[in-house]
Amino acid sequence: MYPSLKINSARIWSNLMQLSKIGGTDDGGVNRQALTQKDFEAQELCIFWANQFGLSISHDPVGNLFFQLKGKDPSLPVVMSGSHLDTQPTGGKFDGAFGVLAGLEAVRAIIESGVSPRRGIEIVAWMNEEGSRFAPGMMGSETFAGLRTLESIKKMTDQYGVSVEEELKELEKRFSFSEKRLLGQEVFCFVEAHIEQGPILEREGFPVGVVTGIQGVRRMRVRVTGDEAHAGTTPYALRRDAIEEASRAIEKLYSIFSNDETTRFTVGRLILKPNVPSVVASEVLFSIDLRHPDSEKLAEAERRVRIVISDAMERCMHKVWCIAASDTVMFDERILQTIENVSKTLGIPSTRIFSGAGHDARQMAHCCPTGMIFVPSCDGISHNVNEYTSQDDIISGTTVLCNVLAQLANSLDLI
Ligand code: GLV
Ligand code: MN
Ligand code: MN
Repeated sequence: MYPSLKINSARIWSNLMQLSKIGGTDDGGVNRQALTQKDFEAQELCIFWANQFGLSISHDPVGNLFFQLKGKDPSLPVVMSGSHLDTQPTGGKFDGAFGVLAGLEAVRAIIESGVSPRRGIEIVAWMNEEGSRFAPGMMGSETFAGLRTLESIKKMTDQYGVSVEEELKELEKRFSFSEKRLLGQEVFCFVEAHIEQGPILEREGFPVGVVTGIQGVRRMRVRVTGDEAHAGTTPYALRRDAIEEASRAIEKLYSIFSNDETTRFTVGRLILKPNVPSVVASEVLFSIDLRHPDSEKLAEAERRVRIVISDAMERCMHKVWCIAASDTVMFDERILQTIENVSKTLGIPSTRIFSGAGHDARQMAHCCPTGMIFVPSCDGISHNVNEYTSQDDIISGTTVLCNVLAQLANSLDLI
């Protein structure tokens, strides 16, 4: 076992608070959308910190940012850790940011311990995990893992028609000093630290969760099309009301899925046309986020969604399509055991936990042995300005990450 390493507790917390000011909102939340000026400022601040302890900086063509501590043996694949700097529009201070800053603090603590690891350690800030500006998210990690092509990513646009390609050119100009690297690479293993975003660790009193896997998800879109008509004069028999039919479908879907806690069904966005009080709606476009820990049951739930929507239509036309589909991923048992053993040696209680939320680690599990470390979320709140994790829990999670990375970076093989 590698000697126990200590992180700088005040530094990780003050860095998290400082980063949260970039895109900070008046209500205490953070709105930092991918590939915006705020995202670039957040990257610059991380680069400023990383320069203080001599990490090398690089970007790949999809805008992922990497910080590298060289290992004693450069021929060995690196150990990688990290998360994302973008947030939901009504996001908090910890989702994503914690994983990037915990990684940087871990590497800094390893350097300060005076011991050079055998393998390099790389901390990554993946581009556009959240997918709130360019949907679907996970762009950086999916492209790195070869699950999506750079060409398809570049064509995507935000709601104002600005493309990822245009913003990547901005990024390249702004970070012209950063070394350019190719997409993808051989990685020894990947460990992401993240807030739990649910209530379990807090309820059970564990500062650290050893994540066993991530449940599968379908991100769907539904378009219901009717006709615009006068709200005062058009008899019901002559209407094709898109809101009436879409809401009937949504109501039915909630009544089915809310009886089953293992399926998570959410309609988070409605876009209405013409969205005018005295006009019968001609179009409803809505999103569906559908999740289940069992990939077969998830596929079955998707089929059910399609049937229910089709059955709910009387006069309107409809179209249902999937913009992203991921099956459940289980993490590598050897990484799980490493995290558990390190926690035990450090005297930090841990428990196994399955992730309901999606993370970049899901994509990395396609490339290399992967695992995740969770810390508790106060009241289970996340994707919300009130997201909070105590300083003590941030310190415990970062300490475990630091020691896990040090141990993995000194291992020739996983056992
Ligand atoms: C990730 O942010 C998710 O929605 O699971
Ligand atoms: Mn996240
Ligand atoms: Mn998130």
